[in-house]
Amino acid sequence: MFEQVEAYPGDPILSLMDDFHSDKRAEKVNLSIGFYYDEAGLVPVLDTVKAAKSKLDAVNPSANLYLPMDGHPAFRKAVQQYLFGEADPQAANRIVTLQSVGGSGALRVGADFLKRYYPESQVWVSDPTWDNHLAIFSGAGFSVNRYPYLDETGSHVAFERMLACFDQLPAHTIVLLHACCHNPTGIDLTPAQWDSVFELCRQRSLIPFLDAAYLGMGDGVDEDAYAIRALAKAGITGLVANSFSKVFSLYGERVGSLSVVCKSEAIAERVSGQLKGTVRTNYSNPPRHGAELVATILNDDELREEWRAELEGMRNRMIQMRNALYAKVKEINPELNVEYLLQQKGMFSYTGLTAEAVDNIREQHAVYLIRSGRICIAGLNESNLNAVANALAKY
Ligand code: LMR
Repeated sequence: MFEQVEAYPGDPILSLMDDFHSDKRAEKVNLSIGFYYDEAGLVPVLDTVKAAKSKLDAVNPSANLYLPMDGHPAFRKAVQQYLFGEADPQAANRIVTLQSVGGSGALRVGADFLKRYYPESQVWVSDPTWDNHLAIFSGAGFSVNRYPYLDETGSHVAFERMLACFDQLPAHTIVLLHACCHNPTGIDLTPAQWDSVFELCRQRSLIPFLDAAYLGMGDGVDEDAYAIRALAKAGITGLVANSFSKVFSLYGERVGSLSVVCKSEAIAERVSGQLKGTVRTNYSNPPRHGAELVATILNDDELREEWRAELEGMRNRMIQMRNALYAKVKEINPELNVEYLLQQKGMFSYTGLTAEAVDNIREQHAVYLIRSGRICIAGLNESNLNAVANALAKY
């Protein structure tokens, strides 16, 4: 029995994290997985999360009942507002939002739902993209293709080529787009480009599926939510997956959401029902604690403002680290083109390093990057900056 089971090749991000943990070198630096580390190199517990915890403990210290299949009602309402802004009530009725098991869970529930109603559709993801996009959509039974995304300079979207690709896709093709802080490149579409993409989706009846795991880590929550809000305004049907892992530093709580923007309230109601069915047959209902924390913060004016300030603190530290790494590398090797560090946004930079160079950097300098050449800017701090700059300047 099970003789035929082949070895798991590992995951490009999570398995590397295991390797990092078993590396005995004291000087090791983790710039691989998308964790926000503070200046001390620790994954912080936000003050607003601590405050929400105490508030929850005071009110409801022991009840651990199941949540509804689509999650915590107060969470769903607050999250819809956070993502879509103060949409007019008509628009809000057309949007279904359910709690999910992190951003990955949202993508998978969305993918399962789409496979059921559009079994012949194919999925297109950006080249490059987060590795797990490919795995999640293929896992749901879709053929996954790649559309052109980054131009030769590595600092701009190859927008004409991307649109030309979308322009020949059959109706009901699913196009996966990163709402902001593109992972791994850190290069985003401009508002005008988003408008053109959604217009094309409308003309060709494509289904945009936005992934928003870093909302607020680029330019600010409202700025980074442009694509999500433009999708809703465009009057097209689309999906939005969102994660609270990074922006609330709640990784292990597995808290995220899936929204589906529908044409009418009646359709939204039926979609909501089918999504609940998808959840029930996968994991029944989502976990409670993380959603309660997020709902407590987002539904309290004071805590919400404090949280926005904490998020701004994270964003600013990452910008400082980008600038500092750029300056250090240039100091060591003025010839090296590292302009990309300044042009890219969010948690990641895409170095253009080959997998072989990444392996050498890991082996010789104990600096861990993803083999696609992605570095997590949030893993940098004053004490590892020199070592990282030295390593990068050699390649
Ligand atoms: C990443 O891209 O590093 C994060 O989103 C973590 C993950 O699950 O891969």
